Amino acid sequence: MVAFPQLRSRRLRRTEALRALFRENQVDIGDLVYPLFVVEGSGIKQEIPSMPNIFHFSVDQLPREVEEIARLTIPAIILFGIPEYKDEVGSSAYHPEGIIQRAIRTIKQSVPELLVVTDVCLCEYTSHGHCGVVVDDYVDNDQTLPLLAKTALSHVEAGADIVAPSDMMDGRVKAIREMLDKEGFQHIPILSYAAKYASAFYGPFREAAESAPQFGDRRSYQMDPPNIREALKEVEQDIAEGADIIMVKPALAYLDVIRQVRNTFNYPLAAYSVSGEFAMVKAAAQQGWLDEKQTVLEILTAIKRAGADIIITYYAKEVAQWLQGA
Ligand code: PBG
Repeated sequence: MVAFPQLRSRRLRRTEALRALFRENQVDIGDLVYPLFVVEGSGIKQEIPSMPNIFHFSVDQLPREVEEIARLTIPAIILFGIPEYKDEVGSSAYHPEGIIQRAIRTIKQSVPELLVVTDVCLCEYTSHGHCGVVVDDYVDNDQTLPLLAKTALSHVEAGADIVAPSDMMDGRVKAIREMLDKEGFQHIPILSYAAKYASAFYGPFREAAESAPQFGDRRSYQMDPPNIREALKEVEQDIAEGADIIMVKPALAYLDVIRQVRNTFNYPLAAYSVSGEFAMVKAAAQQGWLDEKQTVLEILTAIKRAGADIIITYYAKEVAQWLQGA
């Protein structure tokens, strides 16, 4: 075993050129997915208070935004909708003229090559704000499945490239896969939010998506944060049901989960750096307490190092600008 003074690890760190040559992981714009929030109305581009630099867009404002995203060479977006009306069964989630369905068509008309991922869930569309049908104050798993499958189908019929169920019902991947296959969409991949934790880091998103539960919380369906074996079980189950890509969410506080999933399954792995992760860095940066660019790139590189292939991040546009030196 070589030791000091023969061994000097600092030799390979002396200049940026050396460091760059031996860098093991880096963030690539081509791995990023940018979330977009779509609202009813027209002429709307309104900043979300808890998420500076992230906006609500009405459908007519989307072409300009997605053209900019494509110019920045970001390959994909994920869509969230705030509908005109909410009801007990989230029917505006699967209406052919729903907010997401119209958004997809508009985006595909202006930038057809931009990959459109859709979040498949009912929480933005239900009056009670839960991710499924509520029966006696409990989210009923099996009654929710057909509604999720219908929602996924309506997204794909409108032109979505990938559907991403985020509700955490058991059996939703199977239900969606069967529905898509039956309707001739065998080629459409499912990105499953496989290990999704009941996290406080979703706080800003729920304000942005107006999807906070009106009673109780999501702990009867999202995962308990202390668990990791259960995450592997969830991922295994979603793969068995037909998921093509799996996701761990949130990212920063769950890097160990990302690593374990990466070591255990040979499937493409996505990590969602969620709204609270974004808001924390934004707030500290606005106070001058953190260097925003360095902090964000360090966090995203850590998510890659943990084993993620794809990162969903509200920082995608800023990262693309930084990396392109714009
Ligand atoms: C929908 C959904 C949520 C997020 C993504 N899809 C909210 C939730 O589960 O409460 C959170 C995303 C974020 O915080 O950035 N179920």
